[in-house]
Amino acid sequence: MINRQLVRIPEHVAIIMDGNGRWAQQRGLPRAMGHRKGVEAVRDVVRVAGEVGISYLTLFAFSSENWSRPEAEVADLMGLLKAFIRRDLADLHGQNVRIRVIGSRENLRGDILPLLIEAEETTRHNTGLTLVIAFNYGARDEIVRATKALAEKVARGEIAAAAIDSQAIENQLDTRGIPDPDLVIRTSGEERLSNFLLWQAAYAELLFVPEFWPDFSRDIFHAALETYARRDRRFGGVAAIATAAVS
Ligand code: FPP
Repeated sequence: MINRQLVRIPEHVAIIMDGNGRWAQQRGLPRAMGHRKGVEAVRDVVRVAGEVGISYLTLFAFSSENWSRPEAEVADLMGLLKAFIRRDLADLHGQNVRIRVIGSRENLRGDILPLLIEAEETTRHNTGLTLVIAFNYGARDEIVRATKALAEKVARGEIAAAAIDSQAIENQLDTRGIPDPDLVIRTSGEERLSNFLLWQAAYAELLFVPEFWPDFSRDIFHAALETYARRDRRFGGVAAIATAAVS
């Protein structure tokens, strides 16, 4: 069990859930089985996040690039997300979880968008963990959409080009109102961001763990939080100890 008194808990943790396919392949199973086990890990991680007092948990569920996977795998991932919302929404609501969905809502198949909206609407007033589901999400696409929205505002004369600052851009991102992630975790040993929260992760601590996503257990999550707590975050400044020495 994690000792909350001793550990500095990040406000926002974002996770790239990688390695479902390899987890399945290692066991001679179809990739779909890896995704299925991955949903169980999602349930566990949401529960732990709520227990330890994380305020925001963002999960990269489906990237704008994932459409290029074989049709059957895309259909399987869509099916799993839909089943997750249908089956788990009441339980998440009961856990006081608020759901937000980030990513492009354009060209989504008819049956998924209403479900995502229902999940957001049902849990809108909850005050516990905010679970941010990145679906049909790509950071560059998000930044392009935000830039277009700002350009349109300038064209309509609503804001001056000279008034565009970081805050104005953040207000157009899908994550508006959500604090930047403090910690980004990627499973499966791959060490890259893959177009995930590129703007928001500017000062995030990055943690790459070797386990495949379906094996991401409560203990591994606790260990990741302990590693985060030992990191020295400087945000471009100097170490806290150095500041203390001169003050
Ligand atoms: C990466 O593994 C994982 C994904 C592309 C999808 C993650 C989705 C889930 C865990 C299930 C649905 C999500 C929710 C929120 C209910 P990979 O297939 O790229 O694995 P590989 O790199 O080993 O091939």
